[in-house]
Amino acid sequence: MDSELLQARLGRRYPSITVVDRTGSTNADLAALDAPDRTVLIAREQTAGQGRRGRDWSSPGGGLYLSVLYRPGISPDRVPWLTLLAGVALVRTAASFGVEARVKWPNDLLIGGAKAAGVLAEASAPGVVVLGIGLNVGPLPESVRPGPGGLPPTSLGVDVPVLDVAVTLLTELDALESAWRGDSGDPYPSGLLAEYRSCCATLGQEVRVELTDGVLVGTAVRLDQDGTLVVRDGSGREHTVSAGDVVHLRPSE
Ligand code: BTN
Repeated sequence: MDSELLQARLGRRYPSITVVDRTGSTNADLAALDAPDRTVLIAREQTAGQGRRGRDWSSPGGGLYLSVLYRPGISPDRVPWLTLLAGVALVRTAASFGVEARVKWPNDLLIGGAKAAGVLAEASAPGVVVLGIGLNVGPLPESVRPGPGGLPPTSLGVDVPVLDVAVTLLTELDALESAWRGDSGDPYPSGLLAEYRSCCATLGQEVRVELTDGVLVGTAVRLDQDGTLVVRDGSGREHTVSAGDVVHLRPSE
């Protein structure tokens, strides 16, 4: 994979695209830079890949490890939509390679009920978000372990160059993010909210949510305007979940 080729295929959508063979973490590398809006860093392999909630992200060769630094200029209460739109971009990318996928809230890509991709968004400075996406593309080594709730790992399972997957994902991210930003972070006008809902496997599901201070069991009933998940427990009380691991209690596609 080659930076110039990617840049040529993506035109002026991203001012700087760097591809490295190996690094610790593309998120950590970008977070350390005072880089322009939409700077992209891609690694073929990571030695210290970071996942959500302090976990590791196993990053063997053959996967796509991509981070984009954004300076969205959007009100902070709407910025969580940036991470949700990454899930939609992943679903569109899978579809473009003939793979049906859905999202487990907030943004895990599920294929056949197993996890093929994850998203880690970090605020690296005021107004700066580093959006990191790890997508398993080729066959996975057995060393990749299941996630919370025993969610098994899987991959896109297509025999295509990782470069092609990167071009598609960055194109979909650009389309979704430009429209969302153009609407000042409002997810309604561009149809982002509707599309997220339609590809979210969590809504309507019985779920267990592993929070930092306990566990919540109930039904995922809707999304709030800021993208938080509303879960109704057995007594009918509604809880707003902004972070935590959601486990689907019934298998989902
Ligand atoms: C998750 O836990 O589901 C999120 C995984 C995010 C992994 C990606 S790979 C590219 C970027 N660099 C990292 O160190 N993490 C993210």
